[in-house]
Amino acid sequence: MITACPVADLPVGESIRISGDVAIAVFNADGELYAIDDTCSHQDASLSEGWLEGCFVECPLHAASFDLRTGVPTCLPAKKAVRTYPVVVQDDMIYVDTKVREAVA
Ligand code: FES
Repeated sequence: MITACPVADLPVGESIRISGDVAIAVFNADGELYAIDDTCSHQDASLSEGWLEGCFVECPLHAASFDLRTGVPTCLPAKKAVRTYPVVVQDDMIYVDTKVREAVA
């Protein structure tokens, strides 16, 4: 598990980027928390800087849209899914479980 931030630092409609071996973006979409790979599967853009619309994020570079629940893109130019990660809230802190990513990779 890696620490994202306190719950209070990620209000509805906001996102944060967690640096690391693999950068991860965490979103608060209408009160639901989602974590996905931060780097777009099309080119090198940070999805945490994209536009959140419901449970979809639009890439800031070429406007591919990704479903935060599955990581699957819903339109071109991205064709490959980004990985998703379980988010855990404990004692008012947000954590991301990256072990799942290693198991899938
Ligand atoms: S870099 Fe994200 S759609 Fe091109």
